[in-house]
Amino acid sequence: MQRVTWKNERMSAVTPRPVYEGRRRLLQAGLGAGLAALLPGAGKAAAPPGPLAGAERGPFGTDEKLTPRELVTGYNNFYEFGTDKADPAANAHTLRPRPWQVRIDGAVAQPLTLDVDDLVQPRRLQERVYRLRCVEGWSMVIPWIGLPLADLLRRVEPLGSAKFVEFTTLHDPDRMPGQRRDVLPWPYVEGLRLDEAMHPLAFLAVGLYGDVLPNQNGAPLRLVVPWKYGFKSVKSIVHIRFTEQQPATSWNIVAPREYGFYANVNPQVDHPRWSQARERRLGEGLFSPRRPTLPFNGYAEQVAGLYAGMDLRQDF
Ligand code: MTE
Repeated sequence: MQRVTWKNERMSAVTPRPVYEGRRRLLQAGLGAGLAALLPGAGKAAAPPGPLAGAERGPFGTDEKLTPRELVTGYNNFYEFGTDKADPAANAHTLRPRPWQVRIDGAVAQPLTLDVDDLVQPRRLQERVYRLRCVEGWSMVIPWIGLPLADLLRRVEPLGSAKFVEFTTLHDPDRMPGQRRDVLPWPYVEGLRLDEAMHPLAFLAVGLYGDVLPNQNGAPLRLVVPWKYGFKSVKSIVHIRFTEQQPATSWNIVAPREYGFYANVNPQVDHPRWSQARERRLGEGLFSPRRPTLPFNGYAEQVAGLYAGMDLRQDF
């Protein structure tokens, strides 16, 4: 992606500091597990990364060879932890993804704030193997664990006026040190049209490769929209908001001619600085031939109808 130095008025916007800060400080002050256990929600603070049992195999599977786990968790884009591919794995230990609350509001009848563990545990998790195609020209095949985005969105009862859904990453430079640099507007924001968000392929991931999501992949909760370029997969989500207007999206703000709102994988629409016709499947070796990129990343059968009548060169 393009590196940009950028100042933005939203950086001054105040993101409420999570209410659990106080408890975290107590723990850091060494007051120990005994006192911590008496505090509300203390059990949740202890949820460590580990296996996520019981996920059933979800729909839309592919038989393609999985990308080795070391690449999925070691070659990342997560600018909150640095701009090099190895930075997130090296630096994201400061994230502390539990406890974690997600606020869902905007044009809805039943706004909701929920703990990510309450979201995950009572539901049946699915494993879905999806291709992820990055706008930079590489792709991976990843076994995600999570739940259909629509399952969560329906719970808040969207109003008829809701047309889009906006997703916002945590904004906390103490836990995300990359946010001290102006490489992107912070917090990272992304958006989908409502019908895209409700599409059965759209997925919220809480794990991969059978385990809880590693920090560098967007713990504890990240979006996966397999027919769109990877930058739509906003990580470490704290806020989901239904809107009437099309929301701003981070990469579109910094480089609108290069990164559109829709960002559907499209081999016929080149990035202004490189072709999108082919891709390198990570893990296959530098000398293996690049494969042709498929319209909608190979999910055209499922999603092309969402864009009937639109000029996808215009709405890229
Ligand atoms: N989300 C946040 N908050 N910050 C980021 O820098 N990078 C995006 C997306 N989500 C990014 C983000 C980009 S460019 C890509 S390609 C994917 O995350 C990469 O996801 P992965 O590291 O799990 O492969």
